[in-house]
Amino acid sequence: MRQSNTIVGLDVGTTKICAVVGEIVNNDLEIRGVSMSPSAGLRKGVVVNIDSTVESIKNAVEKAETFTGININAVRIGISGSHIKGFDSCGAAGVRGKEVSYMDLERAIDSAKAAYVPLDREVIHVIPAGYILDGQNGIRDPVGMTGVRLEAKVFIVTGSVTSTQNLIKCCERACLEVTDVIFEPLASAWSILTDDEKELGVAMVDIGGGTTDIVLFKDGWLRHSSIITIGGNHFTNDIAVGLRISVSEAERLKKSFGSAAIIMVDESEEIDIIQAGQGRKIPRRHLTEIIQPRADELLEFIKNELISCSGYDIASRGVVLTGGGSLLEGLDMFAETALGLPVRIGYPKDIKGCQDINNPMYATGAGLVLYGFEKEINQGFYPDICTGVFDRMKDWVRGIFK
Ligand SMILES: Nc1ncnc2c1ncn2[C@@H]1O[C@H](COP(=O)(O)OP(=O)(O)OP(=O)(O)O)[C@@H](O)[C@H]1O
Ligand SMILES: [Mg+2]
Repeated sequence: MRQSNTIVGLDVGTTKICAVVGEIVNNDLEIRGVSMSPSAGLRKGVVVNIDSTVESIKNAVEKAETFTGININAVRIGISGSHIKGFDSCGAAGVRGKEVSYMDLERAIDSAKAAYVPLDREVIHVIPAGYILDGQNGIRDPVGMTGVRLEAKVFIVTGSVTSTQNLIKCCERACLEVTDVIFEPLASAWSILTDDEKELGVAMVDIGGGTTDIVLFKDGWLRHSSIITIGGNHFTNDIAVGLRISVSEAERLKKSFGSAAIIMVDESEEIDIIQAGQGRKIPRRHLTEIIQPRADELLEFIKNELISCSGYDIASRGVVLTGGGSLLEGLDMFAETALGLPVRIGYPKDIKGCQDINNPMYATGAGLVLYGFEKEINQGFYPDICTGVFDRMKDWVRGIFK
């Protein structure tokens, strides 16, 4: 089995685990395949059952190996859940009237990293968010400029130590080395947002099964992140309870006939459902009457989040919806009205190779591979400068396992 130049992204989601296999060919990334396996053992993006999660990971990885003929033993994983928090920090370094070097940049960022992080939380990313040189704001790359005092603005993403460790533990039990832990919406943004959107200002909303993750970009920098603990599974559960049907039947109906807005559904249209083992017909509108209030609620939460983080000032290019939940029929149109901003559905972009990945559900998996590719190929790429912290964390998890 081949293995060299391989980058594998493992999206351990609440509803599915997907492994995206990429290969570096002539300094370019080609996607060799994507596999998906139902996820068991996670709730709202967090591992609640190690054994079930390990089994699901093994399934997804074995499928990917069979499909691509590539041996997988190292993965880049995504992390999400309500335990993730992001906040701004600032640090400074003296340059003494000389040219700013990469070392100065690192010293300024290091001092920004000294922000107070409680013992039960671990730093996942320290992302540069702009530089100030002698009071001059909005500098993107100060290296080579002359100045006295360099300030670095950073966005720090932290997560609960135990949740992060449990996720890494599951992968290591599945005999996989974890080479990176990446905040999931950051990975999704990597694969679906255009440079133009990140520059002018955009809100990306990843509607998964258990959570809805929001990130905001402006001037090319990450400005804000937040997690709402409502996802596509809540829609499914509402349908199961409302129509007194099984969860699997509710999921089928949602995907095949669900719609976010009652006005989009013809009054006379009927659908077949299985209720208590019996087939029967119901008006399709009944299904939408259950879905619409949940869509309303989710969009209300998103709107409030955008208001509280100045999202309406930042996101001049509007909102990009992604994740499996964004595939609900009419949700984009409904969201445009509810949020009062232009909305599009985000698909992984510029994908070479296997096109099966061209689905919002795979935005995170595709982003994990793209992120890994950029990191491997581009020496000057500096999206995440807390690798040291992460390596220490991996060693710790290994120590517990011995
Ligand atoms: N065609 C569709 N219409 C409506 N909902 C859909 C459709 N396809 C998938 N979904 C929903 O998308 C959700 C899964 O999305 P996704 O795969 O992005 O989640 P996940 O990554 O497993 O979860 P999370 O990110 O919350 O951990 C499920 O609730 C599923 O029902
Ligand atoms: Mg997800």
